[in-house]
Amino acid sequence: MNILVTGGAGYIGSHTIVELLGAGYDIVVMDNYSNSAPSVIDRIRRIMEEEKQTAGAGNQGRIIDVVEGDVCDKAALRRVFENNSISAVIHFAGYKAVGESVEKPLMYYRNNLESTMNVAECMKEFGTEYIIFSSSATVYGMNNRVPFVETMPVSCTNPYGWTKLMSEQILRDMAAGAPDKERPDYRFRPVLLRYFNPVGAHRSGMIGENPKGIPNNLMPYIQQVAAGIREKLTVFGDDYDTPDGTGVRDYIHVTDLAKGHVKALTWALSADDSQWEAACEAASSSGGAAVFNLGTGRGTSVLELVTAFADVNSVPVPYVIGPRRAGDIATCYADASRAKEILGWEAELGIEDMCRDSWRWQRLDF
Ligand code: WQD
Repeated sequence: MNILVTGGAGYIGSHTIVELLGAGYDIVVMDNYSNSAPSVIDRIRRIMEEEKQTAGAGNQGRIIDVVEGDVCDKAALRRVFENNSISAVIHFAGYKAVGESVEKPLMYYRNNLESTMNVAECMKEFGTEYIIFSSSATVYGMNNRVPFVETMPVSCTNPYGWTKLMSEQILRDMAAGAPDKERPDYRFRPVLLRYFNPVGAHRSGMIGENPKGIPNNLMPYIQQVAAGIREKLTVFGDDYDTPDGTGVRDYIHVTDLAKGHVKALTWALSADDSQWEAACEAASSSGGAAVFNLGTGRGTSVLELVTAFADVNSVPVPYVIGPRRAGDIATCYADASRAKEILGWEAELGIEDMCRDSWRWQRLDF
């Protein structure tokens, strides 16, 4: 049973491959390394070797093939399906910087939508029924009612978010489409995972988030201030309607997020028609997609995260208060009860683990 992981050398993709291999799945990776590097795959192999030494080989899966290629290159993607029997796809490949998407909307629409459509077309052609799609809490837009739940209305405030919502719709419509006359038994079954704020790194310190240039997101910026790479953090506003005035988010450890993908895949592969239909109805999603929030259900403010990082790692994190960042909302955190009820998944790691593991990665960054 081969699982194709697009964008598998990326931040969330690499952590998910570690957990998939640990769960015994065999993996095919496709990545163009536009926001990652081949060395990440080598480090995944080292992590798995070390896990074999400590915990025994168990039923570890194998990396069957690593293909350097762009998922937008349909011919290249078809070759991956031709050369490997793919049972399911976990589709991470895509651009993900909100600010950049505002500056370069067409680049985002073309890349993120074409890759999703190519994957869907190849799945249909080669009879692969399951896709786990990397979506985002960004699709909830400026909702001011927390916690965010899957049945809430969705709308976006930036092109990146729209590419995620449009990709969700493409996959829903593929699922709802009429059965294929030549293959009436074929079912297209998408699972849409809406991530909240992924942070942290693998406990080994060997893989983590490696943003190019000035970090857009809070945790990588905190790490770089603590490491002396940046002088200080600017807190984007302290006049929000939150306990300490700074923005509140649902930070989730990337290892918990990765485990959520394994649970979603395992559930999808074993769900019968009635379980699948029940999951889709609960999400009240048009068409046949199962939608799940992957968050902790707990909100943490900017200043709480800064304080936790400094305390856990005994390192100063100097900051100043600056103006609000355009497009930011005050508070965002998940209702993750559906993922717990249906997938049997919930986040296990806390803010201290996220801060400790982020710092280890920052210091050991290769
Ligand atoms: C978190 C909080 C900022 C930087 C983004 C994407 C979302 C998802 C997760 C992909 C906010 C504050 C930040 C800084 C600050 N990515 N902040 N100073 O905006 O919640 O979500 O990442 O799916 O799509 O939008 O994350 O880390 O940028 O901000 O004060 O230098 O930290 O105002 O309150 P965000 P973030």
